Amino acid sequence: MKKNIKKDYRVSSKLIHGPELMTKQWDFSHHVVPPQSSSVTYAVSSAQRGAAGFIQFANAQDVNERPILIYDRLEEPNRNMLEERIALAEGGEMAVAFTTGMAAISAVLGVLTRTGEHIIAHHTLYGCTYSLLANWFPRDGKNVTFTNLLDIQKVMREVKKETRVIYLETPSNPILEIIDLGELRKAVDKINSKRKPEEKINIVVDNTFATPFCQRPLSLGADISLASLTKGIGGFGTDMGGVAVGPKELRTALFMYRKDFGGVLAPKSAWPTLVYGLPTLDIRMRKQQETATKVAEFLENHPKVARVLYPGLKSHPQHAIAKKQMIDCDGKFAPGSMLYFVLKGKPAVASKSSSIIIDYLAKKSLVITLAVSLGMIKTLIEHPSSMTHAAIPINEQEKFGIDPGGIRLSMGIEDACDILGDLDTALKLVK
Ligand SMILES: Cc1ncc(COP(=O)(O)O)c(C=O)c1O
Repeated sequence: MKKNIKKDYRVSSKLIHGPELMTKQWDFSHHVVPPQSSSVTYAVSSAQRGAAGFIQFANAQDVNERPILIYDRLEEPNRNMLEERIALAEGGEMAVAFTTGMAAISAVLGVLTRTGEHIIAHHTLYGCTYSLLANWFPRDGKNVTFTNLLDIQKVMREVKKETRVIYLETPSNPILEIIDLGELRKAVDKINSKRKPEEKINIVVDNTFATPFCQRPLSLGADISLASLTKGIGGFGTDMGGVAVGPKELRTALFMYRKDFGGVLAPKSAWPTLVYGLPTLDIRMRKQQETATKVAEFLENHPKVARVLYPGLKSHPQHAIAKKQMIDCDGKFAPGSMLYFVLKGKPAVASKSSSIIIDYLAKKSLVITLAVSLGMIKTLIEHPSSMTHAAIPINEQEKFGIDPGGIRLSMGIEDACDILGDLDTALKLVK
């Protein structure tokens, strides 16, 4: 019996081969690997076809339509193919790719809000997202309320008639809080049912930590799922990128925003993500997650560690919600590759101890690298309070649960014994 490519193959296989053997975006049927495309501009056979290209771009609703290519900043074959494949992985109608994760976040929020409108955001977020919302949006008259999205009733009390977006990361960076998307959806639907379509509140989820391997926010209640491609999806740490996935009605607005603000993903960065990143997402994440589980259990049982935050641990405050929404394509619990831990002792002592551990690993460990970023094949360690989250004032950090001495780990694909061995040695150095 002939197989139906769209229905009969698993997502992990389609991420290697593409959703179709020959994409409508580009005919590369004789190539086993899609050719790397590199052309700033495209020749058109007539002025009429050029005009048709612009009209088509401005009405970019149908993602399956073969584009008339005009100019790299509008549409481009490698990027189009990547977008098609990410939409498939996230279970969305369309995806639009940007130059970085931050460009994707600013475009989504830029498209969904106008001056005078309001955004509610979870209080722990990646530092630059916090800075975008705290420092830049208010300059354009867009108001932002940071609140605790773990308490959905409290969030609903913060909703104003101008509120257009509820923004969150789940798991959140860096302390891996898990927000119940189903409950949030129900609460937002109640409000939206009394609003005009243009005034409705959109739930926007940054899925960077989980990746679509662990979680597909659109299926859980989000309107838009976005991610930094620089991280788990790219996986190898060679290229930056960002993506927004959602309903096809938003595609034109995101395309137009990207065209005019210019944050378009370069084809030279789309290609490795298409050829190396996405096809290996499944296999990388399985290994990274297996190691994260071992490391989380090791740290939780270590006498010098005060607490470990990993969604896979029963002790995680939102473990039950994580089990509900972090599910891989086999239906198995997929708590991801990120974890956060705090050492014992008063804050000043714990902070000093974490510096000793981090500095030791930076100098002596082959398998644990002191560096920001995450989701790579290499295990990375960092100190969020002074590094990734330095943009958040220190008193706010503590209020939101970011410990001065907290340590974030992003597990790679090295041998787990080597990682555990180096962590064990480092922990012996502190009291
Ligand atoms: C959760 C999260 N979202 C977004 C970003 C921004 O991504 P990029 O560095 O690709 O702009 C980061 C970066 O670390 C992140 O951790």
